[in-house]
Amino acid sequence: MELETARLRLDALQPADAEALFRYRSDPDVARYQGWQPETLVDAGRFIGKQSATPAPGAWFQRAIRLHRGELIGDLGFCLSDDGQAEFGITMAPAHQGNGFAREAVQALLDELFGRLDVRRVHASVDPRNTPSMALMRSLGLRQEAHFRESLRFRGDWVDDVVFAMLAREWPGSAQRTQ
Ligand SMILES: CC(C)(COP(=O)(O)OP(=O)(O)OC[C@H]1O[C@@H](n2cnc3c(N)ncnc32)[C@H](O)[C@@H]1OP(=O)(O)O)[C@@H](O)C(=O)NCCC(=O)NCCS
Repeated sequence: MELETARLRLDALQPADAEALFRYRSDPDVARYQGWQPETLVDAGRFIGKQSATPAPGAWFQRAIRLHRGELIGDLGFCLSDDGQAEFGITMAPAHQGNGFAREAVQALLDELFGRLDVRRVHASVDPRNTPSMALMRSLGLRQEAHFRESLRFRGDWVDDVVFAMLAREWPGSAQRTQ
């Protein structure tokens, strides 16, 4: 699965990406609300090495987010269920946050999920303290469907979990595809 947008390319993570991935994924500001954080460059290399080549139900499938010249500026992943749903998450390197790149990358992902992969519902789980992530979900038009209070045990604390979702028929891209 390779996707191209006006400014970005989404494709497979490569062994050569390990250093860049390690740099932004181990940044405390980036890792604050995330379940996985590499401790070492070797961890980042292992993460890249265990990626599967095609999406499969029940497994996270990760894509690199690159500028057209090839530079890795983030990554996103999704996990399909076997009943036509998908959860997604995204991480951008600090130097490339706030430029609309995350929005552009997720828009391409949603087009692919609702289009070629025929997913009927997409959802994402966000810690409400994660202001940029809450803003990203809203700017994509995802609906906040739940705010669970202290429902997750995360690094020793009970934390809230906000669920955002969208159905295929609500994605603006789907109207264009059926015309
Ligand atoms: C969450 C994350 C990917 C968002 O990336 P980003 O670079 O801020 O996203 P974009 O530049 O595409 O901005 C998306 C929207 O959010 C808004 N936004 C971004 N940061 C914001 C902030 N701190 N406060 C208010 N709005 C903000 C932007 O203005 C934009 O809205 P618009 O399209 O209406 O203009 C990024 O902050 C990140 O990688 N965080 C660390 C990893 C993480 O926590 N991921 C979340 C897992 S789901």
